[in-house]
Amino acid sequence: MNAFVRAAVAHGQRGEVIVEAVRLKPLGPNDVLVQMKAAGICHSDMSFINGERSGATYPLVLGHEGAGVVLECGPQVTSVVPGDHVIPLGIPECGVCQACIGGKTNLCDEYFRDSGSRPFLLGDQAIRGFCDLGTFAEAIVVRDIQVARIDSAAPLDVICCLGCAGATGLGAALFTAKVEAGASVVVFGLGGIGMNAVQGARLAGASVIIGVDTNPSRETAARAAGATHFVDPAGVENLLDHLRELTGGGADYSFECVGNQRVLSDAVECTRRGWGVTVMVGVLPGSQQIELRPRAILEGRRLMGSYLGNIKTRTQLPRLVDRFLEGDLGFDSLISHRIALQDINEGFARLADGSALRTVVHFDSVMP
Ligand code: APR
Ligand code: ZN
Repeated sequence: MNAFVRAAVAHGQRGEVIVEAVRLKPLGPNDVLVQMKAAGICHSDMSFINGERSGATYPLVLGHEGAGVVLECGPQVTSVVPGDHVIPLGIPECGVCQACIGGKTNLCDEYFRDSGSRPFLLGDQAIRGFCDLGTFAEAIVVRDIQVARIDSAAPLDVICCLGCAGATGLGAALFTAKVEAGASVVVFGLGGIGMNAVQGARLAGASVIIGVDTNPSRETAARAAGATHFVDPAGVENLLDHLRELTGGGADYSFECVGNQRVLSDAVECTRRGWGVTVMVGVLPGSQQIELRPRAILEGRRLMGSYLGNIKTRTQLPRLVDRFLEGDLGFDSLISHRIALQDINEGFARLADGSALRTVVHFDSVMP
């Protein structure tokens, strides 16, 4: 395809992206052309323009959460056909590596191999998409192992949030920690990801779900997602004492959904000695190390991590779409704003100043 599509391109840590015309490279044998319908703005995208994370190659098309429709497939693609509704995936599922065959992880070996993919042409320069996706573009070229076919009855401008925030937060509770009915849970950070960890804990039947956020305006949405308590750290004398009191001696599970070393330490410390489990979901800025009181772990607490909630992306994620259609899951309290691609910098600004939860970018232009 040689036609132009518009895409949000980061040119470095410059605080904003430029929405500009790019071309898409022709499809390889295993590639899929996806017309994007909607894409959510995640903190991880922002971290490549606000200085929080280094290591990216610029220019870079941002965006790794979204939903769209398959327009065209390379000759060797058998898993999807034009017209299928898909969620592009930051983690591939090749289906044949040891990780994919086994039941323990969603971290397909392909995820750790450099695909070398540079599907966008900016002038003459071939450039990458974040996570080999770049969902802030009107159309994207991705490998077939990076799209999940979903039920076409699902509204793409809502379930787009499953691609990152939904999978990461819901999965952290359901697939990584495996929260059980009656458990006590503390979720630190109630952004797009933390709200879904709250929702996952609710689906699991947790009886106490405490949301902790320094932004008091998060309380309403947190309660709508399932939180039984909301704590603003500034409003209590000693956060850890308060959380231990609310959970009767320490939480069964905690989730760090901020991306901050000190918060991670609190997340571990607020769990019950002997069996407390903490899931690290937030990405620490490059300069931060994990610092824990050694005894916190010696006393039998556990710290786990997961990418995309340890959900196998092509085989298990579509099941969450089904649960959405069955009415189990919702994203109404999560999606706070809807914008057009050309206004995406406003979306980043609202994420930075705390006035937005998930902002969904809509693509309504006609494809060439
Ligand atoms: N304690 C509690 N909450 C905090 C704190 C803190 N010290 N500092 C910030 N927060 C809250 C913010 O007020 C906000 O509500 O954490 C939330 C973070 O939400 P978002 O910025 O929307 O981030 P999100 O997209 O949910 O991602 C969270 O996961 O994928 C990673 O890179 C991402 O590390 C980031 C994290
Ligand atoms: Zn994300």
